[in-house]
Amino acid sequence: MLDALVPIYGELAERQQERYERLLAHFYSIYGPGPVRVFRAPGRVNLIGEHTDYNHGYVMPVALDRDTLIAARPREDAEVHLANVESEFEPVVFPIHRDIPPAPKGHWSNYARGAAQRLAQEVPHPLRGMDALVDGAPPFGVPRGSGLSSSSAFTVAVALTLAELNNLELERPHLARLCQEAEWYTGTQGGIMDQFCALLARREHALFLDTRPQPDGSFYFDYAHLPTDYELVIADSGVRHSNVLGGYNHRVAECRAAVAILRQHYPGITHLRDVQPIPWSHLEPLLPQVTTLRQLAEQGIAVEGPLPGVGEDDPLKVRARARHVHTENRRVEEALDAMRYRDVERLGQLMVQAHISARDDYEISCPELDALVQAALEVDGVAGARLTGAGWGGCIVALAHRDGVQALEAHLRHRFSRQFGREPHIFICRSAPAAGEVPLEK
Ligand code: GLA
Repeated sequence: MLDALVPIYGELAERQQERYERLLAHFYSIYGPGPVRVFRAPGRVNLIGEHTDYNHGYVMPVALDRDTLIAARPREDAEVHLANVESEFEPVVFPIHRDIPPAPKGHWSNYARGAAQRLAQEVPHPLRGMDALVDGAPPFGVPRGSGLSSSSAFTVAVALTLAELNNLELERPHLARLCQEAEWYTGTQGGIMDQFCALLARREHALFLDTRPQPDGSFYFDYAHLPTDYELVIADSGVRHSNVLGGYNHRVAECRAAVAILRQHYPGITHLRDVQPIPWSHLEPLLPQVTTLRQLAEQGIAVEGPLPGVGEDDPLKVRARARHVHTENRRVEEALDAMRYRDVERLGQLMVQAHISARDDYEISCPELDALVQAALEVDGVAGARLTGAGWGGCIVALAHRDGVQALEAHLRHRFSRQFGREPHIFICRSAPAAGEVPLEK
């Protein structure tokens, strides 16, 4: 088993082996002896390119060695029997078809239901179900609610497992798109970054992805080697805002409103990405600072939906939101160049600019994240730091020279606990390969 785990987890493979053995023993205790296959899907940390994906822009995530595992065996019928190693997630059974009723809002199984339903819609024949056991438990699982994409890791793991057990031959970029749409089942209007990263990442590399589908449905993506001698240090603020979902969809609506306004001047555009070649100084005067759906409707401007949770009179700060997306796309392109030229200093500067833009123009930061970024930048050897993920809490990522990592951890703990009375959870991100079956017989 170790031979299969080393390429994924490197020096931590031995500790992972115990986890896999526990998972298999648990699986047999529920479903009985017999053949079993294990699949994994990683979380991610986004280096740069935040809230650009649903605008068809650029992103640059790295897959983490924190992942979700599924041990599974196909069934003769179409039922999914899903258990979880964490007892607070109760076992569920649901049949796979094209219209699976959701469990109550927030129920853990909804990601699996969304994945199964989207796959069922994709193939002309009925799918076989599975007996499955999920393991996303700490310390090896993706920390939940912290902007490291635990939900996509779970969704991708389920979709990949079902696809493999049913011998579906789906190209990975296409599967990523299905997984993105699968997550809409749970109510967020998310982009494709997290699922694409889970399915196409490479160890030691950041994934540069142009999230705008090409006319034939394919995507342009590339890999940039992570800076040698540097570590990605993640510090979790511990802040978990319950309004992430509402805030996120609101930002999606604000971007769509900006597109609707700009379409008056640039007919045919569908996403903010379409105006990327136009200088910001030309776009800025066309966008009001604040508007509402009602005001736009009065001017005959229709915003494309669905816009869940956005009221007619909610303020939409279209100018600042569009400015973030426009400048962020440019930063991601520059960051890719900086990585190619091994210009760590420039990469760090871009990360800091991205944080400021996320804080001031996109308004997705919070005092805890700002304090962590500021503290990180006070440490020698830290090239840059920024919030990562959807925002409103969760984590920062700092790019730190290996020799500065210890000092960084100590300083973050010290500064954060002095200000907020508790310590942030800090860990070094080890990059991991994309999702896949773990060939355990090896
Ligand atoms: C969440 C979404 C992603 C992306 C980020 C913000 O992680 O799932 O699609 O929009 O937020 O960059």
